Amino acid sequence: MKLVPKSPNGNPGKAEPLLSVGDSGFKKPVSRTRTIRIDFRNVAIAPESLMDKFVIRGGNPLVGSVRISGAKNAALPAMAAAILTDEPVILENIPDVRDIQTERNLLVSMGAEVELGYGRASHRTTISCNNLVNPEAAYELVKTMRASTLVLGPLLARMGRARVSQPGGCAIGARPIDLHIKGLERLGASIKQEHGYIEASADRLRGGHIIFDKITVTGTEDLMMAATLAEGETIMENCAREPEVVDLAALLTKMGAKISGAGTHTIRIHGVEKLHGARHRIIPDRIEAATFVIAAVLTGGDLQLINCDPSHLGSLIQKLEECGVSIKAGTDSMRVTNGHQLEAADISTEEFPGFPTDMQAQYMTLATQSQGTSIITENIFENRFMHAGELARMGANIKVKGSRAIVRGKTPLSSAAVQCSDLRASASLVIAALVADGETIIDRVYHIDRGYERIEEKLKGVGAQIRRIGEILPKRAAAPSVVA
Ligand code: UD1
Repeated sequence: MKLVPKSPNGNPGKAEPLLSVGDSGFKKPVSRTRTIRIDFRNVAIAPESLMDKFVIRGGNPLVGSVRISGAKNAALPAMAAAILTDEPVILENIPDVRDIQTERNLLVSMGAEVELGYGRASHRTTISCNNLVNPEAAYELVKTMRASTLVLGPLLARMGRARVSQPGGCAIGARPIDLHIKGLERLGASIKQEHGYIEASADRLRGGHIIFDKITVTGTEDLMMAATLAEGETIMENCAREPEVVDLAALLTKMGAKISGAGTHTIRIHGVEKLHGARHRIIPDRIEAATFVIAAVLTGGDLQLINCDPSHLGSLIQKLEECGVSIKAGTDSMRVTNGHQLEAADISTEEFPGFPTDMQAQYMTLATQSQGTSIITENIFENRFMHAGELARMGANIKVKGSRAIVRGKTPLSSAAVQCSDLRASASLVIAALVADGETIIDRVYHIDRGYERIEEKLKGVGAQIRRIGEILPKRAAAPSVVA
């Protein structure tokens, strides 16, 4: 096996864009954009990036400042919302992560034009859906990113039909989308499930009363988007209150939608005939911010987080204070310092504003370094403790019983070869490696690339010893071929 240093985008050697694209001819570099049109018959994740690993030498405190990217989980529904109008939607603060690339590919496969800014505008994208020809989300894309199902509601509302692959189970649980389907049926859609696809149709959706059986984030978003173009009023109860839902409602309102109550359990939407284009800045990524906070705490660092929103991190800040950590929060920045022994504290994952399930794995790493026993209860997903086994291989004392993990600390962590199983589990292993004794090799970092923008560069910038390596393999899958 030959290992070579990798560029941040995952390709060996010189940095190159993932997709090669043509210039649209603007003169100023800051405002130049690239339009992507891809032949999707050959799309596959480049096999060499599947083999990337991180090599991390632990022991360095994280010191300095780090800029938090836009929230992947807010950007994904915002991009899907562009389907609702034939005018351009301009989104700023889009993170450069693989899930966003997947969503761009998905929109392009339907006939959308997706322009990417570059240079100083590299986190901006303009999406024009005035020529949607193919209202389909194919299995190849949905299987790599479940959030692809967010196009179901917007396609149905705008085009009257949608064909979306059923996502199937995933590493952290069964994750059905039955609540999206039930909700759309309440709005008058006819839905068939055949050959692994959901086929939905409706002349025009009509407003209805939806009470979610269970709180679902993307379900709330999908139905909220569908209802914006429905005839009459929709009342949705037992809605998710996550900041990403509120951000989507803000974008939809700029597009002309009539929405009230986003951020509460009851959302009301008065359907309108047509939505128009808008410009919107995506909120900062609270999970990325929280991940850096825990990394700083554990390494005994002094870290300033810039471009974050501490008001979205209340449950984490409160829990860390219980553990003995000092956090100073401003309006869009935070400073985290820690030089003390951490005290154990229990967590239980809940919907917002409770402790986020997307931070449970990273908190488990913290619990291994806290004095005493921490009980971690996972209430959202049924199989979200895959990282526990890997942390145990690094020396942690963790017992998993059903939806509970009992972590006894403090145990020193030692380097080992470990493997990522999902996006947030990967982050917990990176944090563990930052405090482990010796050099840890983390395999399958394509999971972390789905949702963290150049995490190794950001960590290196604040003092971590981390590098990306890749195995050279023969090219098995063709890169996407660019049509124009
Ligand atoms: C979103 C987030 C994900 C986060 C999760 C919970 C995005 C793109 N992803 O995922 O990072 O971990 O919220 O905060 O925003 N459920 C059903 N039927 C449905 C839908 C959901 O039973 O139709 C269940 C799920 O299996 C799960 C629970 O509801 O047990 C919550 O899931 P949900 O909020 O829908 O998660 P996602 O929106 O997929």
